[in-house]
Amino acid sequence: MQKLWGGRFSKATDHEVDDFNASISFDSRLYREDITGSIAHAKMLGRQGIISREDAEKITAGLEGILADIEAGKVEFSEEYEDIHMNVEALLTERIGEAGKRLHTARSRNDQVALDMRMYVKKEIREIRSMILEMLTALSESAKQNLHTVMPGYTHLQRAQPVTFAHYMMAYAQMLRRDVLRLEDTYARMDEMPLGSGALATSTYPIDRDYVRAELGFARITENSIDGVSDRDYCVELASDLSILMMHLSRLSEEIVLWSSSEFKFVELDDAFSTGSSIMPQKKNPDVCELIRGKTGRVYGSLTALLTMLKGLPLAYNKDMQEDKEAVFNAVDTVKMCLKCLIPMFRTMKVLPENMKRAAEHGFINATDCADYLTKKGVPFRDAHRISGELVAECVQKGKALSELSLAEYKAHSEVFDEDIYQAIDLHTCVEGRCVPGGPAPAEVERQIASMDHFIQEHSISGEEE
Ligand code: ARG
Repeated sequence: MQKLWGGRFSKATDHEVDDFNASISFDSRLYREDITGSIAHAKMLGRQGIISREDAEKITAGLEGILADIEAGKVEFSEEYEDIHMNVEALLTERIGEAGKRLHTARSRNDQVALDMRMYVKKEIREIRSMILEMLTALSESAKQNLHTVMPGYTHLQRAQPVTFAHYMMAYAQMLRRDVLRLEDTYARMDEMPLGSGALATSTYPIDRDYVRAELGFARITENSIDGVSDRDYCVELASDLSILMMHLSRLSEEIVLWSSSEFKFVELDDAFSTGSSIMPQKKNPDVCELIRGKTGRVYGSLTALLTMLKGLPLAYNKDMQEDKEAVFNAVDTVKMCLKCLIPMFRTMKVLPENMKRAAEHGFINATDCADYLTKKGVPFRDAHRISGELVAECVQKGKALSELSLAEYKAHSEVFDEDIYQAIDLHTCVEGRCVPGGPAPAEVERQIASMDHFIQEHSISGEEE
């Protein structure tokens, strides 16, 4: 079979090289972007009189037919044609003859692939963003149901101060909110149409880049043709945004792994989202969380692969850049797969407030409040801290919680203590007292939730407009 670019060659390509060179096995997923881009290009060529209107129409109809056939599973791509771009073009010429050979006028595969990838990345950003918004909704709903669910907050994984499960979930919501914003930033920056850059130096035809831009719904056209075919920053940015997102999902997953252990027992995963052991009948494993944690490495891998692939490339296009695809696809697929399982797993996860409360009661997490109690009665904080620490030591020795010490035991450490100490170190008082903006007090967390709901709503609407 003669290659589309075979004119200057006297020999067929070595078979190993054909295999090595071909990208159709993975870039076939760009068929829709490729065809949509080609239709816009053909229409523009027709309007500008670069090809005849009849040819433009034949090409458009031919491409639409190919698109329909691909979607119906009727097309088999061939490795001989290397990539999706040449497969579609060869198929078109096979179907409509002469006119098909005019499609590639004033275009190169270099700007074609740059266009396809940008269209693909834009689509995936929109999809992933709406999945994150769904996860945000799930977090916000869980928070609303757990405004009063007291649990220990940790530092160094040691019980530290009382918070609520709602407060905790809204912390994760903040991370995912930033992920949405990061993806939107990336999107806004990359929303540029590269077609017309040609191989690297545009062309001598009177093409109308702005028409193609408008047809394909891009905000701007790329400003420089050399950059237009060489820029893969948006792939790096996407992989970086997705790496940060995965880091967040992995941290949440790690918490759920811990919380679903018998040692914590703060949550229970639904049977549909857990797995068993082949040998230990009692096991109920949080595999989904573990896989999310584990798959995070793949997405980091994509980011590293892209940065490394690009760092030594002279301008403009180099074949190395074909490697951008699997890296981007891998990151996108992994993130979507993780979110698809995480969202329903999280929604069906049972929160066990009683166990959280028990852990909160036995961790001296109200020791700071005990010190604050003394401080509010005039004791300097440093002294109050020491007294409170001595009380904790006594509790540890006696196997008691702070709330279980008698007033006499308190008074032995400081005369300032009175009956109202019990109210002051009650866990609900401790949580409610932290009503500073950002704090765990139910009223304050309600405010955080309302602001998050507003964010979710606004960003879901702007998503529908695109
Ligand atoms: N399959 C190629 C890629 O993914 C398309 C661009 C090829 N251009 C070229 N001059 N060989 O990058």
